[in-house]
Amino acid sequence: MSDSRVDQINVLKLTLHERLVGYLVGLQSGQNILSFAEAFKNDEGRPTFSLITHPAFPHSEKIISEPWARNQKLPPTLSNLLPEGALRELMAQGLKVHVDSEFHLLSYLGADLPGALVAEPMEPEDVPASVLAAHGQVKAVKFEKLSPENQFSLAGVQMKFSMEEKDGRYNLSKGNVLGDWIVKTPSTKHKDVPVNEFTAMTLAQLVGVEIPEIKLVELNNLESLPQINLPDENLAFAIKRFDRDANTRIHMEDFAQVLVKYPHEKYNSANYEQIGRIIYGYSGDGLADAQQFARRLLVNILLANGDAHLKNWSLIYPDKITPRLSPAYDIVTTSVYIKGERNLALNLGKSKEWYNVSMEHFKSWADRAEIPWRAIKPHLDEVIEKARNMWPKSIKDLPMNDQHKQKLIHHWSLLHKDFRIR
Ligand SMILES: Nc1ncnc2c1ncn2[C@@H]1O[C@H](COP(=O)(O)OP(=O)(O)O)[C@@H](O)[C@H]1O
Ligand SMILES: [Mg+2]
Repeated sequence: MSDSRVDQINVLKLTLHERLVGYLVGLQSGQNILSFAEAFKNDEGRPTFSLITHPAFPHSEKIISEPWARNQKLPPTLSNLLPEGALRELMAQGLKVHVDSEFHLLSYLGADLPGALVAEPMEPEDVPASVLAAHGQVKAVKFEKLSPENQFSLAGVQMKFSMEEKDGRYNLSKGNVLGDWIVKTPSTKHKDVPVNEFTAMTLAQLVGVEIPEIKLVELNNLESLPQINLPDENLAFAIKRFDRDANTRIHMEDFAQVLVKYPHEKYNSANYEQIGRIIYGYSGDGLADAQQFARRLLVNILLANGDAHLKNWSLIYPDKITPRLSPAYDIVTTSVYIKGERNLALNLGKSKEWYNVSMEHFKSWADRAEIPWRAIKPHLDEVIEKARNMWPKSIKDLPMNDQHKQKLIHHWSLLHKDFRIR
């Protein structure tokens, strides 16, 4: 048979902490197939690729024993590693590939993904015979090497960059240096987002939410940014990456990955009960993490954040195997941008409406998530007590836009009496 009638495949080798996980094959038909390596499958002490492959997860052995195949898109676990929105467009443009070519995007961004997974394009001669044989008459090929400007991937919608900090100046992470900060530049669509996020995250921290180190950075301290549209604002929001420690990677995954959903399903395919149940059931410290999760749920209501969807919650694997709830990120008072917004991103005890939610809703959330209510209630009491004592004063000295502050303070007065802040 001549070469032209033989299907071509591209192959990425996936590794986690230098251990072979398996191979991702991209077929010309657009089908993408991930198969796990035998040694990885058979290793009881393997690093956790996704919670669904953890030995304690129901049916994990079956899940990992069969190939994961999808058409056009990548399987959700991998698809969720890619940027959405404007950053995705910027990268696709730089790489000269279509925004929907997920295999292509992953093969270019695979050396600097969220978490610790590494996806590396294989030389055709290195592709194992068993991988070729699984796909019939095929020949392995490799994409031409482009050297794009930004070779890192970060999920999410907003424009952001993975950067390395040195003496207060930030450089785009390049080559084999991993960025240790995420820098979110101001938005051309919404006003003063970086100071909003900085303020909301600070208020959250004051009532016991665990957050990474955060900063506001002047734009002239950001080196080598690509040509992007920027509004007339001077500050960017910077947050220390919890999936990087100097030049080593710490694995993490968001709850879209945990629940095997695509990014477009982040608002409508699950609720806070499901997330709570998983945290309580699988975390290395289920109770502490469930208590922290409950605190954050209340804080999102108090701060009028309507965007705490599946991709804004993550598990992190500090010992490479056991999940913990990651530090909080992406807490923004979104109601100031979205007229009439009055809803949480996901259901909490059958309701989404901020102004409806009372202590009773949290009790029903805990009951449904099978988390003991008596262990949760004191944490919510403490959050609301601290918020009432501190926020009205603290907000005065925080950098949020004044109009946004007024709107947030008004929001506090509309909450159910269990949570109202004056
Ligand atoms: N401090 C952090 N450390 C590691 N990963 C982070 C951190 N903050 C955010 N991320 C990751 O980057 C993604 C995008 O960040 P996020 O703040 O949610 O931006 P967006 O506003 O675009 O959604 C998140 O979904 C998460 O995977
Ligand atoms: Mg986000």
